[in-house]
Amino acid sequence: MTAARKETQAETHFGYEQIPLDEKQGRVDDVFHSVAKRYDLMNDLMSGGLHRAWKDALVTAVNPPKSNKPFTLLDLAGGTGDIAFRTVAAGGQGTRVTVCDINAEMLTVGAERAQAQGLDHAVTFERGNAEELPYADKSFDCVTIAFGIRNVPRIPRALSEIYRVLKFGGRFLCLEFSAVDVPGLDKLYELYSFQVIPNVGRMVTGDREAYQYLVESIRKFPKPKAFAAMIEHAGFRRVSYTQMTGGVVALHSGWKL
Ligand SMILES: C[S@@+](CC[C@H](N)C(=O)[O-])C[C@H]1O[C@@H](n2cnc3c(N)ncnc32)[C@H](O)[C@@H]1O
Repeated sequence: MTAARKETQAETHFGYEQIPLDEKQGRVDDVFHSVAKRYDLMNDLMSGGLHRAWKDALVTAVNPPKSNKPFTLLDLAGGTGDIAFRTVAAGGQGTRVTVCDINAEMLTVGAERAQAQGLDHAVTFERGNAEELPYADKSFDCVTIAFGIRNVPRIPRALSEIYRVLKFGGRFLCLEFSAVDVPGLDKLYELYSFQVIPNVGRMVTGDREAYQYLVESIRKFPKPKAFAAMIEHAGFRRVSYTQMTGGVVALHSGWKL
């Protein structure tokens, strides 16, 4: 049997549901088509505004130069542009961000936000799949992905694409939900995730299932040590991670050296 045929038959998870690997991207796209217009509001409601602090920690690690020095960031699965806008605000005149996302609706919301903030000269929105990036080798100084990697069906493919488009000396940073490991907080987090989030999702976006998928997909994502090993396997060096908010999220880092 050829490798391609084996992959067609492979299975994966869409939240807790086991589905053919080839079906996952379509299901994920439906989720973000459905929630795009209320996505930013939902982030604030679900995290009590905490996602802002987590994203700021990511941008601090990106550390764009404050000078006019050219600096190019690819924000993958960048959706409505949060990481891009924060990076441009933190960097100097030479900072340019490409937001790449597979979902046209998320990108449209992001492009409208960029225009409203007068940032369209510094931030570009482009449609693309993390598994097959439409960029030349060694194009970017840094690649980020925030709360995106767990939605990608073939994560190892995306990691090797990220490695390919990074320049040597460049850094990969990934912010993702992780595993809460503080006794007491874990029970509370579980209750909040499964009882509160899908219901708030239903009230705000009309789509309970989308948010049920989001909380289930967090539980199915590899533990931080296992994900760090995947990053290393893609070729990255000096791989590390930091957990925040009792393990609710983890910030992963790797260098192309
Ligand atoms: C939870 S949102 C994160 C958006 C943004 N990074 C943020 O932190 O607000 C996940 C994003 O991943 C995108 N996505 C899912 N699969 C993708 C893929 N294969 N390639 C690129 N983007 C993808 C979705 O369209 C969605 O915009």
